[in-house]
Amino acid sequence: MLTVDEAFRKFKSRLELNDKEQANASARQNEVREYLDTKFSIDNSFLTGSYRRHTKTKPLKDIDIFFVLKESERHYRDKPPSVVIKDFCDALVDKYGKDAVRKQSRSVNVDFGVVVDAEDNTDYRVLSVDVVPAFAKGTDYEIPDTDSGVWIKTNPKIHADKATAAHQSFSSEWKGLVRMVKYWNNNPKHGADKPVKPSFLIEVMALECLYGGWQGRFDIEIQALFATLADRIFDTWPDPAGLGPAISNGMDNARKQRARDLLMAASREASLAINHARQGRNGEGLKAWRALFGPKFPLS
Ligand SMILES: Nc1ncnc2c1ncn2[C@@H]1O[C@H](COP(=O)(O)OP(=O)(O)OP(=O)(O)O)[C@@H](O)[C@H]1O
Ligand SMILES: [Mg+2]
Repeated sequence: MLTVDEAFRKFKSRLELNDKEQANASARQNEVREYLDTKFSIDNSFLTGSYRRHTKTKPLKDIDIFFVLKESERHYRDKPPSVVIKDFCDALVDKYGKDAVRKQSRSVNVDFGVVVDAEDNTDYRVLSVDVVPAFAKGTDYEIPDTDSGVWIKTNPKIHADKATAAHQSFSSEWKGLVRMVKYWNNNPKHGADKPVKPSFLIEVMALECLYGGWQGRFDIEIQALFATLADRIFDTWPDPAGLGPAISNGMDNARKQRARDLLMAASREASLAINHARQGRNGEGLKAWRALFGPKFPLS
C-alpha cells in the first residue's frame, strides 16, 4: 500500500504543470491574441499570474494573459476601467459567444467549454483564460479595476521573484504546498464560495506563513500551514510588490470568519489523518487526506 509520503508526492506531481498543458495554454494565448489583434493595437501579450509562477492548481482555469496595449490605445487609460473591460468583452463575445465570455473586475474570462472528469482531469486542456488589458508604466503595469473604479498598478516580476525566493528557502517544496492548499480551496464541498478569496491570498500568506524551513514531512507541514492561515486570516495582507490594493480586501469580516472556521476545520482533519497513520491505520489516513483535498489525492 501507498505510504502517506508517497501519496503526497504523487499528489504534488499531479498538481504540476506538464508539457501538454503548457502547449495548450500557449495555443490558446496565440488564438486569443490573433483575434484581438484585429480589434485592438496590442504591443505584446504574455501568460502571467499563478500559471506563470507555477502556483496555479488543477484543473487549469482562469489563466491570466496580459494584453499590453500600444500608445494609440492610451485613450482607454483616461477613461473609467469599465470602458476597456466592456470593449474587450464585446469583442470576445463576437468570437466566442455570450455564454462563454464573462466580465470580471479586472479581466474578461473566456471559457473554452472543456469537460472535467470525476478525477479532475481535462485531457491536458485549459478550461478558461482571464484576458487582462494592460498598459506598461516603467517596469510596472497598470490594469483596470472595475470594483474600485480606478486603474491599479501591478508587477508580475516582483511577485514571481518573491515566490521563487520562498520556494528556494523552503527546500523547493513551497510551490507544491501552495498548490495543495489552493486545491483544497477549490474543493466543491465548500459550496460555490471558496473559503479564501482571492486564492492569490493563500500564496501571499504562504510567503510569511511557511517559515522555519522544510521539516521533511508533507502531512505535518500542511497541518501547520492550515492552522497558521486560520490564525492570520484577519490580518491585513498588502500587495507583496507594494503597488496594488491589499490582497486581503477581497473578503469582508463575515467571509473572513467563514474562512477561519474552514481553515481550522481543515487543520483538525489533517491532525486526524496524521493520527490514523501514526496508529497504523494507513488506509484510513489516506482516505481522510483525500476527503480533505479532493480526487487528485491518490488512494493507491
Ligand atoms: N491587489 C493586487 N495588486 C497588485 N497585483 C495583484 C493584485 N491581485 C493580484 N495581482 C496580480 O495579478 C495576478 C493575477 O491575479 P489572480 O487573482 O488571478 O491571482 P493568481 O495568482 O493568478 O491566482 P489564481 O491561481 O487564483 O488564478 C496575481 O498573480 C498577481 O501577480
Ligand atoms: Mg489568476
